[in-house]
Amino acid sequence: MSGAVFRVAAGGCVRGEIEVPGDKSVSHRALLLGGIAEGTTEVEGFLESEDCLATLNAMRAMGVAVERPSPGRVVIDGVGLHGLQAPPGPLAMGNAGTAMRLSMGLLAGQAFDATLSGDASLSSRPMERVAAPLRLMGARIDTTDGHAPVRIHGRAQLTAIDYDLAVPSAQVKSAILLAGLYAAGVTAVTEHAVTRDHTERMLRAFGVAVDRTGERVSIAGGQRLHGGPIRVPGDISSAAFFLVAAALAAEGTFVIRDVGVNPTRTGVIDILTLMGADIRVTNLRLAGDEPVADLELRAGELKGIEVPRALVPRAIDEFPVLFVAAAAARGTTLVSGAAELRVKESDRIAVMAAGLRTLGIEADQRPDGLRIVGGQLGSGAVDSHGDHRVAMAFAIAALKARGALEIRDVANVATSFPGFASIARHAGLAIEEVR
Ligand code: S3P
Repeated sequence: MSGAVFRVAAGGCVRGEIEVPGDKSVSHRALLLGGIAEGTTEVEGFLESEDCLATLNAMRAMGVAVERPSPGRVVIDGVGLHGLQAPPGPLAMGNAGTAMRLSMGLLAGQAFDATLSGDASLSSRPMERVAAPLRLMGARIDTTDGHAPVRIHGRAQLTAIDYDLAVPSAQVKSAILLAGLYAAGVTAVTEHAVTRDHTERMLRAFGVAVDRTGERVSIAGGQRLHGGPIRVPGDISSAAFFLVAAALAAEGTFVIRDVGVNPTRTGVIDILTLMGADIRVTNLRLAGDEPVADLELRAGELKGIEVPRALVPRAIDEFPVLFVAAAAARGTTLVSGAAELRVKESDRIAVMAAGLRTLGIEADQRPDGLRIVGGQLGSGAVDSHGDHRVAMAFAIAALKARGALEIRDVANVATSFPGFASIARHAGLAIEEVR
């Protein structure tokens, strides 16, 4: 628990235009793939957040030279598929689930042992979902009762598997595909719900053949990666806070520029649109291997909905702020099929329900979701439980609250969105961070 808090005055509006920092998922992948590529990978728009810096430090600890010549620019001198070296000690992944889970896949095929550790939150999150399929490939991995620290033993001979993804998870899929680079044969993953496909797109950008047939994605082992330029789009998961802010309280047209709109990530736009939000996707273009657009928003009255289950995996990180939208909407919102929210950086169903109830909103937990009755948000103090997205979601709630909000334990906002408070202030929120 950290002492940092957000204090946010009630009401106000958002106006003008903003940009949000680079995409977290894409930034992690640029480091991991750039590290094992041949040649130089120049990354622009890199997210300089604590989570991504954990991956950066891990790659450096394994002998990859990574330079940071200017803000948002990272230059990776790839060591090739078999060029990583044993790290001198445990690789500390902090709060970063993506760093830990994708690294497990990468490390499964190395010639050395490594240990991955995390903070208290990461050490409580499930790791067997990654370890189990990797063991089927021949990896030797010990978890600590299913959690971090995770020990990966080197010199395993990996063989391809054909894996049916029971949990819709891009991290699990990506770990298997990364291990597949080191496996004999063609590794395949079949997913029954759409999960983000940044790994597949970036592997292709590095010259790797990745096949996608319907729900099945496959990769032949032994393929070499070739470094090149990577352009990281703005993170739609960070933009989501301002999508909701604008839907609730934009003055005129509010614009968020250069946001990644990969169709596996745009569930938040679809859900808010179903709730009645006025969102226009303009200036759609390709930036490297990812689609990017400007988002134009106007305020309007939101209504409660039953969120279609198929949209849940495509908006999985956006539920904290979507719950705030539901609390400020007219009528009842029901989210189900979202049990994954219980094993994110916090139990986001329990933590959001508790915070919303503190603010006087009716919020009933279900095992796999939440039922929220929209109403007048009150005022007072809510605890983020160290969860970055919960902290930012409640900051946005202040726009519709009766009185000021204090949000506690917010230091982890820096894991995904450094500079959130100043961008929020620029947009119009009366927010200050007090340490
Ligand atoms: C991510 C995948 C998602 C998401 C996480 C980032 C990724 O997790 O929640 O924030 O970069 O692959 P799961 O793979 O557990 O669904």
